[in-house]
Amino acid sequence: MSGTNVYSGVSDRMETAMSLPPAAFRDKAVFEAETDRIFRRQWMPVARVEQLAEAGDFLTLDLAGVPLILSRDEEGALHALSRVCRHRSMPVAEGEGNVKAFTCPYHLWRYGLDGRLLSAPAMERSEAFDQGKCGLPSFPVDVWEGFVFVNLDMEAAPLAAALEGLMPLVAEDGLADMRIVSSLTFPSPWNWKVLVENFIESYHHIGPHAESLQQSNPAFGTYVPELPEGTNFTALENPPVEGADPFSVYVGFPAFLLVVLRGETTSAVWYRLDIRDEASFDLTINILMKEPEASDAELVAGTAEVLRHIHIEDIAVCDGVQAGLSSPAAAAGPLSHLERGLWHFHRYLKRVTGNG
Ligand code: FES
Ligand SMILES: [Fe+2]
Repeated sequence: MSGTNVYSGVSDRMETAMSLPPAAFRDKAVFEAETDRIFRRQWMPVARVEQLAEAGDFLTLDLAGVPLILSRDEEGALHALSRVCRHRSMPVAEGEGNVKAFTCPYHLWRYGLDGRLLSAPAMERSEAFDQGKCGLPSFPVDVWEGFVFVNLDMEAAPLAAALEGLMPLVAEDGLADMRIVSSLTFPSPWNWKVLVENFIESYHHIGPHAESLQQSNPAFGTYVPELPEGTNFTALENPPVEGADPFSVYVGFPAFLLVVLRGETTSAVWYRLDIRDEASFDLTINILMKEPEASDAELVAGTAEVLRHIHIEDIAVCDGVQAGLSSPAAAAGPLSHLERGLWHFHRYLKRVTGNG
């Protein structure tokens, strides 16, 4: 099995839903098809606006193999620019910071924060050189509730269309008023879908989280709310025991992973995936809070410790699953009703890869 036909067997009914065939996680051809049809065509969350607060702020990232700069120009507009010089392909920026312009280190061509070529030394004798045509290519970028999304497809429909179903579910949570107060990073040697699937079911609270989340938000009480047919997101409610707090899990497919904690105050956790290849990605767990909690160093540190502990519990099973998937005896297995979100995810994959 190769390419995207690994999704052709995804069931139309939850009652007969199965996990994906192992090839969906381990085949290079599947990952290449996902890169082409998903990561380069869908809106991908890449940053928070507070990371690009001032004119001249920029950060760099690689999205689906495309080196990018995210920048804020003097007028306050955000840009997602190709990071590759239009002269001879040297990356024009690294890391993050605040600049007036991007100067390529090779022959010092200078680009504005909006990607326009500002100057290029000793090019006046070239008849092939047209300054107006040598800007850095620019991709669609948009913001929702403080999250910056980029789409590598120039023809992409607006972000609002992609998030339409998810928006009302978090409309009251004030996500736009939050900021990143702490970030935990984990190099993750797994296929990206191993983590997405771990994230969207709480059935496993009875396993790796038996002493943590199972005590506060027991697995068998968790449920997926009614969602419209053909949804491009899923949600999972985690009701608490007496004295604990509820939390909700949201995944905007393919990879916008969000937890909203609704206790006395509301906070959120954003799992940001930097997907590298079919067997690895870098995970950043970002904790988002509003004031005054955001300035409470003790609360922030305590929350980060809890999240680190929970993720370490998840690492054990994600490591195990990634290893298990490489066995020739590994095969798709039936899903519990508590894993409805996986079925939503699989149907989404089937749809966007052209299998249904
Ligand atoms: S490669 Fe950038 S200026 Fe030459
Ligand atoms: Fe977990």
